[in-house]
Amino acid sequence: KKMVEQIRRGEQVDPMPGIVGKQRSVHNTYFTLPVLFIMISNHYPMTYANAKGWLVLGVLMLAGVLIRQFFVLRHRGQVKWWLPAAGVALIALLMVLMAPKQVDAGGEKVSFATVKAIMAQRCIACHADKPTFEGFAQAPKGVMLQTPEQIAAHAVMSAQTVASGYMPLGNLTAITEEEREKIAIWFAQGARTAD
Ligand code: HEC
Repeated sequence: KKMVEQIRRGEQVDPMPGIVGKQRSVHNTYFTLPVLFIMISNHYPMTYANAKGWLVLGVLMLAGVLIRQFFVLRHRGQVKWWLPAAGVALIALLMVLMAPKQVDAGGEKVSFATVKAIMAQRCIACHADKPTFEGFAQAPKGVMLQTPEQIAAHAVMSAQTVASGYMPLGNLTAITEEEREKIAIWFAQGARTAD
């Protein structure tokens, strides 16, 4: 716009805005894949719910840059397979490092009372017949976690969503790692709803 304005006014054209624009376009090229990932990342809570989420995102962005660079070079006739291979290797490394840890079900028994108390503190603000969390008029997806029967009915999904970091949503109720582990152990021990 600045350059067109200069041409209109019959002034000498300063090429700088065009050069800066080209530079931004190059940056955008490398941001393409990371931005696409961020847009769908809601489906991958294990990435953003990780305690080192910023590092996970950094590695994923680097992988995106490597893969994009492959296409940039290929458009110029150079085919460098090590680039996407390195990108995929980085993602594979993340998967290995971030894989959920196996919990030891053989250790001390986690009582149902403990799990119920955790859910009362961290879940039922949303998952109740009358949610108290601001903005929630009803239990999300009809999932209520107030009674032993309700907790039993949603035990599998509760264990999975808590382990992946999806629940509590955005960790708005500040569950601790220790509490997450307790729920995982309770589930591995058979998800009893009586002590
Ligand atoms: C701040 C509100 C909030 C809190 C707190 C919360 N949830 Fe949720 N929960 C949601 C929302 C919203 C959904 C629906 C998400 C969707 O549709 O993908 C949901 C969905 C679920 C589901 C159904 C998942 C599915 O895909 O069917 C389960 C099970 C669940 N939550 C368990 C829990 C547990 C266990 C806790 C506590 C450790 C918890 N939630 C805390 C808001 C919350």
